Amino acid sequence: MGSQITTDAGIPVEPIYRDNDRQPEPDAGQFPYTRGIYPTMYRGRLWTMRQYAGFASAHETNERFRYLLNQGQMGLSVAFDLPTQLGLDSDDPRAEGEVGKVGVAIDSIDDMATLFAGIPLDKVSTSMTINAPASVLLLLYELVGAQQGAASKTLTGTIQNDILKEYAARGTYIFPPRPSMRLITDTFAYCAERIPRWNTISISGYHIREAGATAVQELAFTLANGIAYVQGAIDAGLHVDEFGPRLSFFFNAHNNFFEEIAKFRAARRMWATIMRERFGATDERALTLRFHTQTGGSTLTSQQPLNNVVRVTLQALAAVMGGTQSLHTNGFDEALSLPTTEAATLALRTQQVIAYESGVTASADPLGGSYLVESMTDEIEQRALELIRHIDDLGGAVRAVEDGFVQAQIMDTAYDYQNRVESGEQLVIGVNKFVTDDAPVPIFKPNEAVAAEQCAKLAKLRAERDQAAVDAALADLQRAAEGSANVLYPMREALSQRATVGEVCGVLRRIWGEYRPDVAI
Ligand code: 3HC
Repeated sequence: MGSQITTDAGIPVEPIYRDNDRQPEPDAGQFPYTRGIYPTMYRGRLWTMRQYAGFASAHETNERFRYLLNQGQMGLSVAFDLPTQLGLDSDDPRAEGEVGKVGVAIDSIDDMATLFAGIPLDKVSTSMTINAPASVLLLLYELVGAQQGAASKTLTGTIQNDILKEYAARGTYIFPPRPSMRLITDTFAYCAERIPRWNTISISGYHIREAGATAVQELAFTLANGIAYVQGAIDAGLHVDEFGPRLSFFFNAHNNFFEEIAKFRAARRMWATIMRERFGATDERALTLRFHTQTGGSTLTSQQPLNNVVRVTLQALAAVMGGTQSLHTNGFDEALSLPTTEAATLALRTQQVIAYESGVTASADPLGGSYLVESMTDEIEQRALELIRHIDDLGGAVRAVEDGFVQAQIMDTAYDYQNRVESGEQLVIGVNKFVTDDAPVPIFKPNEAVAAEQCAKLAKLRAERDQAAVDAALADLQRAAEGSANVLYPMREALSQRATVGEVCGVLRRIWGEYRPDVAI
C-alpha cells in the first residue's frame, strides 16, 4: 500500500506517529475539555443509552418505549412521523401516505398523553427529534407532565430545535429562517423561565454528515450553526451564561475510528474556546460541549445486513472513547426498514457490552496522549476552524445556508464519496468487496391502519372540545405571532384547550409564511 492513505475527511494518515514534544492536554473536566467535560467521566456516570424510537400510533410507540426501558435503556428518544415534523395533522391532505411511517403520529395533547402513559416524566429524560414545531411538542410534553403531577421545573430532556440544518440537510422546515430563529429564541426564553432543566436545542451534525459531509464539514457546519444560535439569542437580549448551559449537540459516528474520536475531542476544545473568547461566557456549564451520538445510518448496508452489527459496534466504541454523553446505536436491519424489536434489542445490548464488559469506561479519554489521536485532533480542529472562518466571511451560517454554500459543499462531498465507492477505491464489505447472495432477514411490518385511526381520533376530539375556547386561544396566538410577544404562552393555552398541532402551526404559517428553497430569501 504505497499510496497515501487518508481519513474520510482526506486527512493524510502517516505510517507511524512519534512524540512531537506536544504539550499534554489538561485533564478531563478542565478547560478546554478536550479530554472530556467531567473529571470522572463514565466512572461518575455512564452515558445515557437512548434509543431513537417511534412509529405508527402513540399506543404502539409507548409499548416500544416501555419495552426498551425494561431492557435497560436509560433515556427516551422520540421519532415523530413526517406530518408531525411538518406541523400537519394526520387528516391533512398533505399528510397522505406518511402518517405513522418514519415515526409516531402526534396530533394533540391526547396522543401525547398516550405516548407517555405509565412513564413518569419527572423520572426520565426525553429527547424529541422535532425542529420546526419543536416548541409545540415541548409544550405538549409540559402539559402531559402537568397531567401526571410533574412540575415543569422537574422535566428534563431535549428538543432538537435546530432549524438551520433542516434547510441545509434534513428538510423538515416550515417557516423562513428569520421567523424560525425567532421561534427558537422564544423557546430559549420560555425554558429559562419555566423548564430550566430542559436542553433547548440539539445542534446537530448528524444529518449534515448523513447528507454526505466529511467529519471536518460535520464539525465546522455544526459549530457554525451553534455560533448563529448563540448570536441570535444574544441579539434577542438573552445572556450567554443564562441560555448557554442548556445548549447541546448531536454528532454522527462513522467508521473511521480514530478520526471520529479526534473529531469529538476537537469539538469540545473548539466550542469551549468559541464560547469564552467570542461570546464571553464564564459559566463552566456554558463552556462545556455536551453531545449525543447516533451511529452512522448511511454506513448501514442492505447487503449482508449482519455486518452492520460490527459497524455499529465500532462506531459506538468511537463515540464512547470520544466522550459522548448520550448514545443511540442503529439496528442492523435499518438499511431495510425501521428496526424490528430483535434488532433494536441487539443495538441496546451492544452499548451494554461496551459499558459493562470492555473496560473502556474505567478512565477518562483513554486515547488521550496518543501521538496519532492528538495529531489528528489538532488537524481536524485546524481544518474546521478554517471552514468556520470562511462561513464568517460569508456573513455567518444563516447567510451561508440562504446562499446555498453549505448545501453545495455537502453535495460535492457526497458525489465524490459515491464515485469512490462505485470505482472500488472506497471498500464497503458486502457491497463492492466479498459480495455474496444474502439470506433474507425478518423486517419490521408497519401498521397500515394507523392513518384511519388517527383521523377518527381527530374527528372525535374536534367534536368534543370547547371550540370557542380553542378559537380564542388561536386568536391570541395570532396576535403574538404578528407582534413580538413570546408565542409559547398563547400556544400552550391553545394546546391545553385541545387545539391540534396542525391548527397551531397553521396560524403561524398564515402569519410567517413557509420557506421555499427555490425562492431567494
Ligand atoms: N460527573 C458529574 N455529573 C455527571 C457526570 C459525571 N461524570 N455524568 C453526567 N453527569 C450529570 C450531568 O451533569 C447531568 O446533570 P443535570 O441533570 O443536573 O444537568 C446528569 O448527570 C445527566 O447527564 P447528561 O445531561 O449529560 O445526560 P442526558 O442524557 O440527560 O443529556 C445531552 C445528554 C446530550 C445533554 C442531551 O441533550 C440529550 O439527551 N440529547 C439527546 C439527543 C437525541 O437523542 N437526539 C436523537 C436525534 S435522532 C435524529 O435526529 C436522527 C434521525 O433524524 C434519523
